[in-house]
Order: sequence, then structure tokens, then C-alpha cells
Amino acid sequence: MSTLTYERLYANLERLRLTKISEVLDNYLERANKENISIIEALDYLIETERINKDETSLIMRTNVAGFPYRKTLEQFDFSFQPSIDIKTIHELKTARFIHNQENILLLGPPGVGKTHLAIAIAMEVLKHKFSTYYINCHKLIAQLNKAHYENSLAVKLKTLSKYKLLIIDEIGYLPLDKQGANLFFQLISNRYEKNSTIITSNKSFGDWGEIFGDNVIASAILDRLLHHSTVINIKGESYRLKERKKMFSRGDDKN
Ligand SMILES: Nc1ncnc2c1ncn2[C@@H]1O[C@H](COP(=O)(O)OP(=O)(O)OP(=O)(O)O)[C@@H](O)[C@H]1O
Ligand SMILES: [Mg+2]
Repeated sequence: MSTLTYERLYANLERLRLTKISEVLDNYLERANKENISIIEALDYLIETERINKDETSLIMRTNVAGFPYRKTLEQFDFSFQPSIDIKTIHELKTARFIHNQENILLLGPPGVGKTHLAIAIAMEVLKHKFSTYYINCHKLIAQLNKAHYENSLAVKLKTLSKYKLLIIDEIGYLPLDKQGANLFFQLISNRYEKNSTIITSNKSFGDWGEIFGDNVIASAILDRLLHHSTVINIKGESYRLKERKKMFSRGDDKN
């Protein structure tokens, strides 16, 4: 290969952002020569290597954008500790079909039973299917919507939050919402309804939502939209945090 061809090849790889091919090419060409690898095999190997690298990079970027408070997977979830969870349902959600069908997931249960863990773990599967995902807790969400409302940019904010294929709204019910908060929340759910999927986690059963939103009418309008196409996972079990704490106590590790 002439120096000119070699230089142009590398310049084009850079221009086309084929960075992985650029990285492995020299070594691979040497190997291909030695092992008599055909041109078609060589092209297939190089393009496949580039594709895998691009997929990995974009998954990392989408995961960073999602803003999870921590990263946990379904493999890290001990289902034997929470027998009330139907594993078949989780397997179904793992396929990300619920995203195609614009369905929602509602994870309910007391503190520490794994609601946030499962929400994040399902979202990590969704990210592998290349869907955009965003995590926010309810309190921060309302603060952001309030700010947008006062800055006259509510429509833009609602549009941004509505475009994610999956939005996780975590911890509904820990803090009550005022009338305006409830109103803004309703607008968001209304905008996303039948367009994109939402995962909600709450420590409160649906009967208590009137109390969270300070208004039974708005609470039932929100629930009606969320539940229309949805999977509800009601976790009835012990706190995993408590279990870990008990384990520490029994080992005598706890210094408090
Ligand atoms: N079944 C489980 N297997 C493995 N780890 C778990 C399980 N359940 C919970 N955990 C872990 O325990 C911790 C608390 O779980 P998580 O944050 O999901 O609780 P939560 O239900 O969202 O509680 P809260 O209502 O207080 O927010 C996390 O570190 C999580 O990874
Ligand atoms: Mg939580």
C-alpha cells in the first residue's frame, strides 16, 4: 500500500468517525495477511468491531443522560427476598415491549422493598433497546415544573419531559403536593398519556393519592391516565435495608 493511500485511508476513517477501525486496523491487517483472511471477512470483522464500539459508547451516553441516583441491574435483585413479585412480569418488562405499547409501570410498596432498584434496573434494560430514558424524583420534578412555570417556559419544559420514551418519577407520596404542584403534575402525565411510558414509584396505595395531591378529583384524573395501559407491581414485603442492617447487627459490625 502506498504512503498516500495509507494516509488517505486514516484521514477518511477519522472524517467518518470510524475510530475503532482506525485503532485496530494496523494490527488486524498484519494478522489478515498472515492468516490469509479474505477481503469480505476482513471488512465484516472491522465493521462489526466498529458497530459494537459505537453501540457501547451510545449506551454509556444514554445511561449518563438518564441521571440515575445509583445503577442497579435485575441480576442484582434478589427475587427470593421479595416473593410477592411475579418474576414472569419482570421478564416481560425486560423485553421493553411496554415501551412500544406506551404502557406505564407502577411500583408500590413500603420503604426499602426495592421500588427504585427495580425501576432503575428495568430502565437499564430499556436503554439497551436504545430508548431514551430519564430519572427524576417527584420532589425535584415539581420544583423544576414550578420554576419553569414562573419563568414562562412551562410549555418547553413539558415538551422536553414528554419526549423521553421512558420517564421514571420516583418517590411519589413522601411529600404532599400543593394545588399548583398537583396541577403541574397532571399536565405532565396528560402530555405523556398514550405517547410514552412512565414508571412511577410510590409508598402510598392508590386510595391515599387524594391526600398526596390534596384533591381527590385531580388524583383520580392522574391515576386514570396512568393506569389505563399499565402494569402494577405491588411489593408486599420486608425492607431490604432493614435486612442488611439486621445482618450487620447479628455480626456485631454496627458501631451506632
Ligand atoms: N430484593 C433485593 N435484592 C437486592 N437488593 C435490594 C433488594 N431490595 C432492595 N435492595 C437494595 O436495597 C436498597 C433500597 O432499595 P430501594 O432504593 O429500591 O428501596 P425503595 O423501595 O425505593 O425504598 P424507598 O421507598 O425508601 O425509596 C437499595 O440499595 C437496593 O439496591
Ligand atoms: Mg426509592
